[in-house]
Amino acid sequence: MTNLILSGCNGKMGQVITRLAEADSDICIVCGCDINTSVINSYPVYDDINKFEGKADAIIDFSHPSCFDNIVSYCKKTKTPLVMATTGLSDEQIESLDDLSKEVAVFRSANMSIGINLLITLVKQAAVLLEDKFDIEIIEKHHNLKIDAPSGTALMIADEISESLCNKPEYVYDRHSMRKKREKKEIGLHAVRGGTIVGEHNVLFAGNDEILEIKHTATSKEVFAEGSLRAAKFLNGRCAGMYNMKNLIELN
Ligand SMILES: NC(=O)c1ccc[n+]([C@@H]2O[C@H](COP(=O)([O-])OP(=O)(O)OC[C@H]3O[C@@H](n4cnc5c(N)ncnc54)[C@H](O)[C@@H]3O)[C@@H](O)[C@H]2O)c1
Repeated sequence: MTNLILSGCNGKMGQVITRLAEADSDICIVCGCDINTSVINSYPVYDDINKFEGKADAIIDFSHPSCFDNIVSYCKKTKTPLVMATTGLSDEQIESLDDLSKEVAVFRSANMSIGINLLITLVKQAAVLLEDKFDIEIIEKHHNLKIDAPSGTALMIADEISESLCNKPEYVYDRHSMRKKREKKEIGLHAVRGGTIVGEHNVLFAGNDEILEIKHTATSKEVFAEGSLRAAKFLNGRCAGMYNMKNLIELN
């Protein structure tokens, strides 16, 4: 059994996790945390995680970067493992997660779906083989309520490609502001926002007279919720360190 604190419990992801957890006999949400306390849940909800006096095996955070300091200090104080799913974190916040991982187990992934993690493996292979001849562009699409752009997943894909290339690429986000030809070393990142699109990531390799596209589409938020619950179970009782989906797939 994994006893869970759910941060951002009254948001869209929090409510999907709440529903899935109710049907999962290995998960018990012991409390939620959200600045919006108006939703009735089967567990107590606090506007500040530090008001919770019980104990948990892990925290899942799907909230907002403004919640970050509170969550990290709670994890440090109580030595509770953390699944960090919130995107749009600053470089400074990512560094403090690395610091936290020296004391407790931390799982971070900008995309908790298994499919996206397979896409990353495939695009890294393609990038290595096509590096000199093909231009790489990443196009992501999300619903019209998403605030950060490009998505954390698009950046994660770009970072993974960058790591596998000999010549480090330069990320280009806005071609509107410059009038010049595309350079070979670029990776273009493009954000589309509209309607209720759950999440689509398309990595395009454009060469001379041929185009390869590797694409992942999430059709419901459940894929992220299920992945985060698997991550919380994976962290339960695990020693300090930084973990991701690749570790979950390999070590499980
Ligand atoms: N890693 C992944 O796979 C993945 C998948 C989907 C969404 N996300 C990310 O998860 C986050 C939440 O997504 P969502 O769609 O559920 O958003 P949402 O806006 O529906 O929910 C966020 C919740 O956090 C609460 N909140 C905001 N600031 C807070 C604070 N300072 N203290 C306490 N609670 C606070 C809000 O009241 C809200 O209930 C976003 O960053 C999103 O990009 C990640």
